[in-house]
Amino acid sequence: ATGAFTFDPGFTSTASCESAITYIDGDEGVLLHRGYPIEQLAEQSSFMEVSYLLLNGELPSKGELEKFSNTITRHTMVHEQLAQFFRGFRRDAHPMAIMCGVVGALSAFYHDSTDINDPQQRLIASHRLIAKIPTIAAMAYQYSVGRPFVFPKNDLSYTANFMRMTFANPAEEYEVDPIVVDAMDKIFILHADHEQNASTSTVRLAGSSGANPFACIAAGIACLWGPAHGGANEAALNMLREIGTPDRIPEFIARAKNKDDPFRLMGFGHRVYKNFDPRAKVLSKAATEVLDKLGKNDPVLDTARELEQIALKDPYFIDKKLYPNVDFYSGVILSAIGFPTNMFTVLFALARTVGWVAQWNEMISDPGQKIGRPRQLYTGATQRDYVPVDKR
Ligand code: SDX
Repeated sequence: ATGAFTFDPGFTSTASCESAITYIDGDEGVLLHRGYPIEQLAEQSSFMEVSYLLLNGELPSKGELEKFSNTITRHTMVHEQLAQFFRGFRRDAHPMAIMCGVVGALSAFYHDSTDINDPQQRLIASHRLIAKIPTIAAMAYQYSVGRPFVFPKNDLSYTANFMRMTFANPAEEYEVDPIVVDAMDKIFILHADHEQNASTSTVRLAGSSGANPFACIAAGIACLWGPAHGGANEAALNMLREIGTPDRIPEFIARAKNKDDPFRLMGFGHRVYKNFDPRAKVLSKAATEVLDKLGKNDPVLDTARELEQIALKDPYFIDKKLYPNVDFYSGVILSAIGFPTNMFTVLFALARTVGWVAQWNEMISDPGQKIGRPRQLYTGATQRDYVPVDKR
């Protein structure tokens, strides 16, 4: 009745599923991954370590992490024929359109060798997805700028490998910038998983029918693209740039409050958080740190901060408990690092793939799992008899 996505597979709660991966307290602004606060993981962990945690439930030992990272590294190349799929896209195709198509096409390469009832084959499919999505994301960017694809290098870390595949120009040496790699690794951690959000629920629902995991992740990517969801990071920076200077903020606040105007403050509000999104707090701090370290000054960051201050004092936003979310500050950092806005949601999808894969595995390995089947509140016509057309 609330329009919320709920289906009840047999227990009395309105929850869509049981999960042990991520816990959110929206009123308190708490986010835990397997019990660990996101703030601690973002400041002290690495994306590969968090990936292991999400998939396995425990932080890895040094040896376990090294083995896991090496396994992922050895899956980073994609089949040479997969590269052919890019040729069908116009160069100005939105990278998320390419991601939907090419990640879905992975099914054509691995569908026959992925028996989802076999735990070992589920594990290999999981590793393939976590490893190949960055390669495909980097290929989407290189394709958009007309440069040749860059192969992964096995002696680089997961995030350094992605940055080199994305920005390296084969005619020159590419220097991995540790400041940028650290910033991106933190951003990936902050986007890795987030309980039963729309795209994760999409992956679970698709997976509940027994569809192969590559097709399920492609479905998640499609859902994430929406501006109400992962597409908000691109929309938020575009909005901040449109606002331009702080003196224009009241005009946009007024639009956001106007029920007759479909405009929303992008990067603000959340289905669950009715307090600060803890990820936004980490990203707000990181934005200042990263721009300082890169020696960059982006006036958009000042506009973002001013907008946040004004909105948080406005009765409309206070009454409706609207706070900055994960998408409000991330774009400022990504732009400073050199990504165009149309790559922002691709980066969200890259990071969220490990969350989608962990949630898919949790669901598919549950012996009691049943196909998802949301119900409805019927509001249509009551039963009536057919009337032949010449009598209507
Ligand atoms: C993500 O679910 C997840 O966990 C998602 C995510 C993840 O990690 O997977 O956290 C990632 O998607 C974050 C959200 C990114 N989207 C945006 O920033 C887009 C802008 N935000 C809004 O579109 C909105 O806040 C939503 C879509 C996020 C939530 O919308 P809801 O469900 O309407 O939120 P709500 O019920 O809490 O809204 C309460 C009221 C409503 O007004 P009334 O119907 O009560 O009159 O606040 C209004 C909303 O219209 N409102 C806003 C607003 N967000 C909500 N008004 C102006 N600007 C906004 N940003």
